[in-house]
Amino acid sequence: MVQGMANWNTGQTQKWLQQYVDDWVAFYRKRTNDGDVASYIPALAQADPDDLGISIIGKSGMTVRSGDTDMSFTLQSISKVISFIVACMECGVSYMLDRVDVEPSGEAFNSIMHLEMQQVEKPFNPLINAGAITVGSILPGKTSDQRLEPIFQLLENMVGYRPKLNVDVYESERDSSMRNRAIGYYLLETGFLESDLNVTLETYFKQCSIEVTIDDLANIGMVLANDGMNIKTGEAIIPRQIARIAKVLMLTCGMYDASGKFATYVGIPAKSGVSGGIVAAVPPRVRDEPMPFTDGCGIGVYGPALGDEGNSIAGIRLLRHIANQWDLSIF
Ligand code: DON
Repeated sequence: MVQGMANWNTGQTQKWLQQYVDDWVAFYRKRTNDGDVASYIPALAQADPDDLGISIIGKSGMTVRSGDTDMSFTLQSISKVISFIVACMECGVSYMLDRVDVEPSGEAFNSIMHLEMQQVEKPFNPLINAGAITVGSILPGKTSDQRLEPIFQLLENMVGYRPKLNVDVYESERDSSMRNRAIGYYLLETGFLESDLNVTLETYFKQCSIEVTIDDLANIGMVLANDGMNIKTGEAIIPRQIARIAKVLMLTCGMYDASGKFATYVGIPAKSGVSGGIVAAVPPRVRDEPMPFTDGCGIGVYGPALGDEGNSIAGIRLLRHIANQWDLSIF
């Protein structure tokens, strides 16, 4: 345990924390060997499996960044949090919760089987593919670009610039994603989709292909940690109730069938994507002894080597280590 300083928000402390994080990143980089990059979307297979980077941004502005900090990568499933928030803001929370549930599925993120086996009344949650595709069908707009516009706007309000679409990744996913098309047809048959399937799938593939950095993820995490407030601008950009539901979903469903373990060993609302990104939102905590980032922080991680559940393998271990060392758990 890091101990011995009364005030964690000083320049000296930042240097100290930086040294720790540099050591931990170097250590956990070795664990990238235990995973593989996603290859079912061909463009993602080009990532370097040895990459590992982290960015931690605190409420006071204190920032600790380490490892491969300058990589760009696509949001993938992290976009599902954003699209659900936008859909709630556009259509209302109760409208959305009538159409997508908030229960963990306990199955893989791209499972179709559970929809049929359990004869569900609505997809389990908006963070699995079936739920996110359903959300994409509800977003207002006739074209995929119209549906994506409020997603881009919210991201811009969170990260401070308008992120770009990675067209190569979008086309690669569009041309290879038979599984998502199958999920889409199943949702169409069962009456869950509210609009045209092709526009809906195009919306989904594009939202997954929005390009970000770990600093962007840390800023997104900061907004969620602060219940929808952008601390830098002082603007409330997501209604508090919606930001809270988003964090509940991240904690209970954000790591798919590894969510229970993540909540147990890390204890932070977080969401992963198959490109290797993880966003984590650490709310302010009350602690008896001084700890880093007790007033909350956002964390962005990039590590494209994935474990069996589709989450960054070294990224999760690094987060677990930091959460334990700095007592970041919300519990
Ligand atoms: O639909 C897919 O399969 C991908 N575009 C997103 C999946 C994903 O990121 C799952 N996350 N860990």
